[in-house]
Amino acid sequence: MNKDLLEKGFIPEEICTNLPNGFEDIEEISSSLHKILANNQIGNVINEINQQKDISSLSIPELERAMLLYSYIGHAYMWGKTEVEDVIPKNISLTWYNIAEKLDRPPILSYASYALNNWSLLDNSKPLTLDNIRILQNFLAGVDEDWFIMIHVAIEYEAKNILGSLKKYYLDEDMQPKHLEDALISIKKINEIMNRMPEKCDPYIYYNRVRPYIFGWKNNPATPKGVIYEGVEEYKNEPQLFRGETGAQSSIVPALDALLGITHSNDPLREYLDEMRIYMPSDHRELLSGLDKFLNEDSNSKTKENKEVVNEIIMEVHQFRNKHLEYARDYIFDQALKTQSNSNIVGTGGTPFMKYLDKHLQETVPKDD
Ligand code: HEM
Repeated sequence: MNKDLLEKGFIPEEICTNLPNGFEDIEEISSSLHKILANNQIGNVINEINQQKDISSLSIPELERAMLLYSYIGHAYMWGKTEVEDVIPKNISLTWYNIAEKLDRPPILSYASYALNNWSLLDNSKPLTLDNIRILQNFLAGVDEDWFIMIHVAIEYEAKNILGSLKKYYLDEDMQPKHLEDALISIKKINEIMNRMPEKCDPYIYYNRVRPYIFGWKNNPATPKGVIYEGVEEYKNEPQLFRGETGAQSSIVPALDALLGITHSNDPLREYLDEMRIYMPSDHRELLSGLDKFLNEDSNSKTKENKEVVNEIIMEVHQFRNKHLEYARDYIFDQALKTQSNSNIVGTGGTPFMKYLDKHLQETVPKDD
């Protein structure tokens, strides 16, 4: 397990903002995706993409950018036409599949593309704060869509402080209360960022303009059999079922649960969260399986030494889940009741979420022995 990742955080060290020669068509379509979607032109522009792309010399940051752009174009094609089709044309399916293979994630928009690799700083001399992030790619664009992603990015950036401090205490055998106090300060900052979602992301806009593009093709009534990736030999022309983009593909909360000894008894959301790991970058996935073992062996005995402050941290994670549940209700559940459009009350990943998010909240409780 690469535990240093906890101190570095899950945001990559280098983010590519422009693909090299050979990908001009992809860059061009991506930069005007909002206009293409507004004019219902996505079906036409896809035909202009050259399907034979050589990805062999792309670096990891370049592969991540390519994955991001192909995922956005792929989802725009799936959800941006008047009629949903269940075949992704070979102009994008072949290269998208090859990139995904290299990155060891399924060819679908996942959190790593949507949030972790999708930003740059406005001013490089200043730290990452909500005032200093620019989102690189969006679907329809607009402040609500950007803000939704920016909140995730800012939380990821802060999370390296709580995860780094908990790592020192729980994994490095340096059990000074100071590390827990630092962790408490950090989770309070995360909650402050989380609380700011409604400032610029309106629930109606989110539900009707942002969310429709990030759905996947598994457990989705629009694609009951899944989606064919045209020409991808490995899939043998069989439809594929992949989940949509969701914050549940972030490694922060599973890592916090494991380090703090927060457990969830079996339920559909827990199964779903385990499944989410295949959509994460492989080093994040490996870290989480390492932490699972730690949770089973070690967390509670170390918590006992400084139970009070650990419990304060756990109550802040509870606060996070409480606010999150409020957003799931305001941004999805209540909106679905008000409108007939995309009114299936499951998350973008395809879970009946309200009941189980609440269960996970109730399981985030202080230790009493
Ligand atoms: C308007 C804001 C948000 C809404 C409406 C929302 C919605 C949802 C929904 C419906 C789920 C259920 C599973 C699924 O369908 O994927 C979920 C899960 C999850 N989301 Fe969000 N989300 C929001 C913001 C965030 C943010 C900012 C984060 C921070 C990284 C986040 C992290 C998570 C996590 C970790 C889970 C798994 C549940 C758990 O472990 O308790 N979400 N979200």
